[in-house]
Amino acid sequence: MDIVKDIKGFLSGLPGIVTGLFLNLRLRRIKKIVLFTIPFLLGIILLLGWMSARKVREVVIEDFNQQQLVLARHAASQIENSLDSLKRELSLLSLSPSIQYAEAVSLGKRMEIAFSRVKDEGVLEIRFIEYRNMKMYSVGNDGYRVMQSPHEDKEYMKWALPKKNQGNILMTDVVPLEYKNGLRKLIVRMVIPVWQVSVDEAHPLPTNKFSGALIFVIDATSLLDKITKGIKSGKTGYAWVMDNRGGFLYHPEKEFIGKNAFEARKEKKPTISFARINEIQKEMMLKGREGKSWYISGWHKGVEKEMKKLIAYAPIHLSDKDRDLIWSVAVVAPISEVEGAIHDIQIRQFLMEGIVILSILFGGLLIISMMLRWSSSLEKEVAEKTGELKRREYQYRSLVEHADDIIFTISPDGFVLNMNDYGCNFLKKTQEDILDKHLSYILPQETVELILKASGNVFRSNTSEQVTCSVTIDGKVFWLSINLSGLLDEWGNVYKVLGIGRDITERILLQEQMLHTEKLASMGTLAAGVAHEINNPLAVILGFTDLLLEKAPKDPEIIDMLKSIENQGFKAKRVVENLLSFARAEEQKRIDVDINKNIEEVLTVAGNNLLLNKIAINKMELEYPLPKVKGDPDELHQVFLNIINNAVHVMKGGGVLTIITRDVNDGRDVEIRIEDTGCGIPRQYRSRIFDPLFTTKEVGEGTGLGLSVSYGIVKKHGGTITFETKTKEV
Ligand SMILES: Nc1ncnc2c1ncn2[C@@H]1O[C@H](COP(=O)(O)OP(=O)(O)OP(=O)(O)O)[C@@H](O)[C@H]1O
Ligand SMILES: [Mg+2]
Repeated sequence: MDIVKDIKGFLSGLPGIVTGLFLNLRLRRIKKIVLFTIPFLLGIILLLGWMSARKVREVVIEDFNQQQLVLARHAASQIENSLDSLKRELSLLSLSPSIQYAEAVSLGKRMEIAFSRVKDEGVLEIRFIEYRNMKMYSVGNDGYRVMQSPHEDKEYMKWALPKKNQGNILMTDVVPLEYKNGLRKLIVRMVIPVWQVSVDEAHPLPTNKFSGALIFVIDATSLLDKITKGIKSGKTGYAWVMDNRGGFLYHPEKEFIGKNAFEARKEKKPTISFARINEIQKEMMLKGREGKSWYISGWHKGVEKEMKKLIAYAPIHLSDKDRDLIWSVAVVAPISEVEGAIHDIQIRQFLMEGIVILSILFGGLLIISMMLRWSSSLEKEVAEKTGELKRREYQYRSLVEHADDIIFTISPDGFVLNMNDYGCNFLKKTQEDILDKHLSYILPQETVELILKASGNVFRSNTSEQVTCSVTIDGKVFWLSINLSGLLDEWGNVYKVLGIGRDITERILLQEQMLHTEKLASMGTLAAGVAHEINNPLAVILGFTDLLLEKAPKDPEIIDMLKSIENQGFKAKRVVENLLSFARAEEQKRIDVDINKNIEEVLTVAGNNLLLNKIAINKMELEYPLPKVKGDPDELHQVFLNIINNAVHVMKGGGVLTIITRDVNDGRDVEIRIEDTGCGIPRQYRSRIFDPLFTTKEVGEGTGLGLSVSYGIVKKHGGTITFETKTKEV
């Protein structure tokens, strides 16, 4: 109910609850945000961790392979240097006159000296083939020998002979050679043409003739072994060297040496696809390119399984004028080498991430648990306050609903916004009849004006106003005392007026009755005084009239006049007696009177009159048995007769006279109601009907003493006499 809500607004706890609810709403939002944010943050951290681990891995692999490339380059340049130094030795030797002129005595010595210098570089033998007789002078580990040149050396002679090749060095392809004691070696030859350009004592002038070819027979594997053997990439990585035809010149796994790299792998592990390394070898290494990449291998240093390996390769230029003879050195290591290295870094990184994630989780959970605790205490508080509010609301509701007052609110323009059930019942209307209706639909105009005037003051100055007004409900007038006060909004302005109206009809009637009683009492005193004063002269008049009637001559005219005086005197005496009986307080007779019987007796007397006036008597509601009343039956006769006479008077031409008797107050009192169907007592006379001498009857028809005498008798008997009336006018 809205009135209750309005009253609720005054409660001090309300803003606190509203704040509480608001906070709780915000708290729920924060909780939601935290619950969403934590997994989101964790997801991002994990993603970043994974990405960074990948990047680290990539960078480390790239770095590692770059280092392998440096190693490969270094190995290539060392091999080139080594070959260059051999070439220098060869050139130097070719300039020796003992060689050029094939001086049998010194030639061998000279070659031996040279051999001792180059044999550690992998040179197996130094040969000089004299063109003139195709004799071969050879120095090797077996010593110095002279013999007929072997067939293959004639090939080189062919190359050395043309003048254009003077000063050039030929590097031959690598060939396997059964070299002494069945040892198979990979042989590369370094050939230089020898021309007689130098001078010595025996040849003071150079002949400039072609002398022959000087050859270094080099064990390629042993040449490379010195350099590549020491190369270590990571923990287990190694180097291998391939010649221009794809043959392994050097490999830590000896079985590969001399074999074709493309075939050897397939032969060893036919199940593995070596496409990638084959491609690298073919497209990159054999074409003299350098680079780095990865490939799938099937073994590494005794471990036999499919694995990914990193490879870096660099070309070895065995520069030759006619053709660019290229070998290639590769440095390889399994990728697990690198992964092993980055494993530690990643573990550290994951540990860090774990700590961060745990901190976030822990922090998040801490925040959530704190919020939950806070929220539950808040909810408890809100629940308590809500309960309190509900209790108060219930109290106020029942206060408003059960109040015996009309409680309502009105808008500034006089529309009824709410009204409690009591108010609706009082006005004999439903909520629908009243709500949102203007006051003028509900109340009489003058009352509406009074209320609107007062409520206007309340809206203007927030004072409370008191209005006393009347409403007529079902033809009955009710008096209301209405207190009007303002209901304030949050800015302290009156936004509606609360009215509390109380039915004060009884109080007003009581007041009127008291006034009336007082008036009648004073009138009684007056009447008694007047009656007393009149009574004595009247007694004298009647006494003397009586005397005169006895003594006066028997003149009928005089007797008539005296009789008339006596009659009028007696009339006046009755009036005076009536007046006195109205005023007299003392009781004369006290016997048990049966009211029902008393009324029956009166009706017998009045019966004829009732019949004449076509008045029906409704006696059905006489209660039997009725407690006896202490009093004077004659006086009570007079009371009922007076009232019945009045009823007959207003029902001339027909009507119903209803007589009701009732036992009330547990047998202590008797109530008698005499109802007529006449015109009712007009408003202006209602306060005067008990006044002595008040009559609306024509002159001579009534004295106006009937009700006042009855009033006096009833009062003497300790009773009350009152009336209810309805007239057509309001
Ligand atoms: N039943 C009634 N219906 C309407 N008016 C009544 C009724 N009874 C009394 N009155 C009014 O009250 C007035 C006073 O009544 P009351 O009996 O005192 O005097 P009265 O009837 O006028 O004269 P009296 O009784 O002396 O013949 C009446 O004149 C009449 O106006
Ligand atoms: Mg009368």
